Amino acid sequence: MSDATRYAVVGNPIGHSLSPAIHTRFAEQTGEAVRYERIEAPLEGFEQRVRAFFSEGGGGLNVTVPFKQQAWALADDHTQRAAGAGAVNTLWQDERGRLQGDNTDGAGLVRDLMVNNDVELAGARVLVLGAGGAVRGVLTPLLDAGPEQVVIANRTIEKAHELCRLFADQGSLDASTFEALKGPFDVIINGTSASLQGELPPLADTLVGNNTVCYDMMYGSETTAFNAWAGARGAAKTLDGLGMLVEQAAESFLIWRGIRPDTGPVIAALRNG
Ligand code: ATR
Repeated sequence: MSDATRYAVVGNPIGHSLSPAIHTRFAEQTGEAVRYERIEAPLEGFEQRVRAFFSEGGGGLNVTVPFKQQAWALADDHTQRAAGAGAVNTLWQDERGRLQGDNTDGAGLVRDLMVNNDVELAGARVLVLGAGGAVRGVLTPLLDAGPEQVVIANRTIEKAHELCRLFADQGSLDASTFEALKGPFDVIINGTSASLQGELPPLADTLVGNNTVCYDMMYGSETTAFNAWAGARGAAKTLDGLGMLVEQAAESFLIWRGIRPDTGPVIAALRNG
């Protein structure tokens, strides 16, 4: 663990990142000496900014769009969940100066579902919409939670098949088109970026039953298009990705500082702020 105090999130653009607000609250809450800033790295200058940050004594970095794959390539060592994701959102140096890469997104999703919202994933039938980077980033922890089955549905079916191949040894994973899906599912997770544009994949009403929990990995001040769709079909719960965002940050804080912050008050403050 580092005794450094400087931490940051690197991305491009980075102006709207909530990570500084989240980590600053964690630092206040735990009494840890953490200063957390934003770094906007030029698109061609990610590696240089990361190397400079650590050579100046920085303690750890979060990495966001569009640099998560580059961060994976830059890390000397990866956790298993980062290796599965093929992407890194948390960097730090070990005592020998080797750059360590982890991906806390999936752990954040699973904790938000299971711990914050009492959603049972063990034995559940889970539908995941989308097969891009956001979905790949969470599959290892999701499969580790022991669902009976995870079905990945995507507009471009080849990408869903590719994820099934990549994660075949980690759990029961199947690919489907949206049209061929047979519901209802216990949990439906939207990992497409469609919701951000107010769009929805073509989803049958029968995918949602009275006990279905719907989770949109996107978040925003208003109900997402996916959650509005799910709510109108009688979903038991509709959740957005704000809790996942705070939980993935808490996992990073735990890695860097050895303390797990209490996320509940931080989620509530962001929700109300
Ligand atoms: P991210 O890093 O956010 O996952 P991405 O890798 O570009 O971004 O993946 C975006 C995902 O949203 C993909 O699964 C994409 O489907 P395709 O693979 O078919 O492109 C999905 N997506 C985006 N817009 C969509 C829409 N209007 N309808 C259905 N799926 C959509």
